[in-house]
Amino acid sequence: MAPEQSPPGVRIRGLTVAYRTPAGELPAVCGVDLDLAPGTITGVVGESGSGKSTLALSLLNAVQPPGRIAAGSVEIDGLGDVVALGGEGLRRARGRHVGYVFQAAQNSLNPLKTVGKQVLDLGRSHGVADLRGLLADARGLLDRMGLDGARVLDSYQHELSGGMRQRVGIMLALVLNARLVVLDEPTTALDMITQATILRIVREVHAERGLTTLVITHDLGVVAEVADRLAVMYGGRIVEQGPTRQVLAEPRHPYTRGLLRAIPRLVGDIAEARALPGRPPTLADIPADGCVFRERCPLRMDACETGSPPVVTRGSRSAACHAVRDDEGDRPAVAATTGEDQS
Ligand SMILES: Nc1ncnc2c1ncn2[C@@H]1O[C@H](COP(=O)(O)OP(=O)(O)OP(=O)(O)O)[C@@H](O)[C@H]1O
Ligand SMILES: [Mg+2]
Repeated sequence: MAPEQSPPGVRIRGLTVAYRTPAGELPAVCGVDLDLAPGTITGVVGESGSGKSTLALSLLNAVQPPGRIAAGSVEIDGLGDVVALGGEGLRRARGRHVGYVFQAAQNSLNPLKTVGKQVLDLGRSHGVADLRGLLADARGLLDRMGLDGARVLDSYQHELSGGMRQRVGIMLALVLNARLVVLDEPTTALDMITQATILRIVREVHAERGLTTLVITHDLGVVAEVADRLAVMYGGRIVEQGPTRQVLAEPRHPYTRGLLRAIPRLVGDIAEARALPGRPPTLADIPADGCVFRERCPLRMDACETGSPPVVTRGSRSAACHAVRDDEGDRPAVAATTGEDQS
């Protein structure tokens, strides 16, 4: 199984994805720049509706109408710009190059077919010649994830628990040997023990197979467990990103600070935990101009009303906030320590 090529890197630039709504076409993802460094796990975190799944779907050029990628590019090593990719090239890329576990994957298996039959369907749709070998790989992966692979392959969806189905979803994303894997909310709706098991599996399989992995979640605890780098989304923008430990230890954007303060198990003291006031915006009320977070921001100032806040990059971290700039603007730039500086 030891893969020889290096894992793919991904460069997302100026990505804007809009949905057609009764109020016109509105961006759910707006001007996003994000790099996935080869061989790393990147976590994207944000509240419901912040655009995480829309961003993830763009990695496969799989945004469905009434949505469309309105601007930008998604360069994946070995594939090129997937935004420009269409038809057969795109179909083959899905599964082979990019393995995808959709949000609520535990409910997206075909209820009328055994898991094994679905593996065979997947193999046939990708022209796999050795279907027996594919089934053996599927069984091996399931065994590897602590399941009885042979039994799971003979099972229907309703015979499996939520945690088992989630692992089946991960197996289906890996079985064609994709080296870029996107997991959208891999542990939502699972109990804490099963969640910990799945995250351990994600980490192990990532390292074993030499993957580049994107984990989407609303749960900062999940990214704290698995992600090397962290991107925080709000209202379709990435408001802060950097190495996970640094961002969690010293958040810069007021939204990241608010998110962290709301989590007792990260703060360490329930009495200290404070919910972020207000609600995240829906598509219709994301402000068209100015900072998208200003309605809920304790540091709001005049400059936040118009234009996009400048992305302040220091070393391997960046944050889009006027207050961050004013706060730390006269400090010298910190030299990049991780070699993944994005200037
Ligand atoms: N098919 C659609 N038509 C119109 N609007 C949509 C559609 N799909 C998503 N949206 C809107 O786009 C925004 C981003 O949605 P998205 O599903 O990407 O968010 P998310 O961060 O994944 O949320 P969640 O944590 O709930 O999964 C939301 O405001 C959502 O209502
Ligand atoms: Mg989602």
